[in-house]
Amino acid sequence: MVTKIIKIDPDNPDKEALKEACEILKSGGLVAFPTETVYGLGGDAKNRYASEKIYAAKGRPSDNPLIVHIHDFSELEEIAANVPDSARKLADRFWPGPLTMILPKNNVIPLETTGGLDTVAVRMPSHPVARALLTLSNVMVAAPSANTSGRPSPTLAEHVEEDLSGKIDCIIDGGPVNIGLESTIVDLSSPVPTILRPGYINKAMLEEVLGEVNIDPGILDSNANKNIRPKAPGMRYRHYAPKGDLTVVEGEESVVIKKINDLVEKDKKDGKKTGVIATVETKDMYHCDNVLVAGDRNDEYTIAHNLYDVLRKFDELGTEKMYSESFETPKIGMAIMNRLLKAAGHRVIHAEDNKSVLRLQDFRRVIFAAGNGICRAPMAAGILIKLLPENSPVEVLSRGLVVQFPEPLNQKSEAVMASNGISFEGFESRELLNEEITDKTIVITMDEKQRKFILDKYPSANENNTRVLAQMAGEELETMDPYGGSLAKYGLCFEAMKTSLQKVLSSGEE
Ligand code: TXA
Ligand code: MG
Repeated sequence: MVTKIIKIDPDNPDKEALKEACEILKSGGLVAFPTETVYGLGGDAKNRYASEKIYAAKGRPSDNPLIVHIHDFSELEEIAANVPDSARKLADRFWPGPLTMILPKNNVIPLETTGGLDTVAVRMPSHPVARALLTLSNVMVAAPSANTSGRPSPTLAEHVEEDLSGKIDCIIDGGPVNIGLESTIVDLSSPVPTILRPGYINKAMLEEVLGEVNIDPGILDSNANKNIRPKAPGMRYRHYAPKGDLTVVEGEESVVIKKINDLVEKDKKDGKKTGVIATVETKDMYHCDNVLVAGDRNDEYTIAHNLYDVLRKFDELGTEKMYSESFETPKIGMAIMNRLLKAAGHRVIHAEDNKSVLRLQDFRRVIFAAGNGICRAPMAAGILIKLLPENSPVEVLSRGLVVQFPEPLNQKSEAVMASNGISFEGFESRELLNEEITDKTIVITMDEKQRKFILDKYPSANENNTRVLAQMAGEELETMDPYGGSLAKYGLCFEAMKTSLQKVLSSGEE
């Protein structure tokens, strides 16, 4: 079968161009079309042969019911056994829009469309192309997402082509969808309305209209491995699965980044192709083969919008090991995490602050190393010596990375230290030597650049024994450089380093 592609401007759908698609629907054929959530694969909902074709094209189990798409509320009355008040209220507020309601069915819609169930799922989409298609054809359209069963739902016409080209009659290309995740499904056939699938319309929004709303316990992540079956048949399958292994890493941002980079490093050693799902904010922090940006944390909807495309891209790239940040955002976070965790087969790692593994007290020698070794390095050394107990066996040194000739302390550093009761009589700067990095030594730098410099230049330095101060303290910002600034700035730098070192020491306590 040759799949016809019809391009339609979503802002101004051309009725003439849609005519052919309408004819295909009326004669029992299949048409993929854009909605505000994801692309749907549509067929006449009243025609059981059309529904059977949908299952066949998707490779979907036929006990997984389809959603019936309508353009007018009267159609709901035509196919539901009864229409409760709650459905009218929800329709008033959210239709047309990304909400699907489950109601008891009558005999108008065949059991082939509802996967044998005596309830029917109904939704009135808002996308102008979907609306035009439904109105012009006057067909109620059964439409699951237009992907091959088990792949991420399509958010672009190109995704539909990838999966279904040659298997269906027509694809209407209306450009990218808006939301990017499937509609919220709410079951109104039970005494208390229950969310069977989270989406753009969240619990709080539904509760504003309905009062109490439940969430199907089967879709809560905490029940993922307890054999509590989701009520929507489709939510039971391992959907949205990328080809490689995906793991979600949750926790505080800087700790997550570090954890993911550690995992990636191991995978790379095993010769694996690695990838990370990051945000605009964090994309430059990872050292894997491909970083793909899901979106911007300041605009959570961008993450929902791009998620499926990102998962598909990793398939194209042949990525074998993928890690994703966690996106528990306030409004659409539940829907994002529901899809992401399914894609990950519920593999989640909680990145703990593993600062405590690294106890400064366990080293014989701590070397602060930075710049020319007359400013931050000696200040940090002075602070640590004061913080450690009198009889501590730990030797604390300060070194420069580039020292042409020995220099005395920077005057402002000296002044700040003096006012904190620290003095280094006869101090002269020295350059870090490779043989000083013995096996019980930790080298601490002020920033990542210095750490890299040391790792490159000193054979004895490694990822374990060479660290950045702020990172050890679990801080996001690197230690400031007061060089050239006022005395006050040196004072601030001193205090910041003191706080960091206190954190490092206390995290090492049991
Ligand atoms: O946003 C959407 O809803 C998209 C677009 C195309 O409208 N459609 C979509 O359809 O996501 P699909 O088939 O991929 O997902 C439908 C979900 C499945 O999990 C299915 O099991 C559930 O709805 N469902 C359908 N009828 C149901 C019923 N009577 N009772 C319980 N769950 C039902
Ligand atoms: Mg689907």
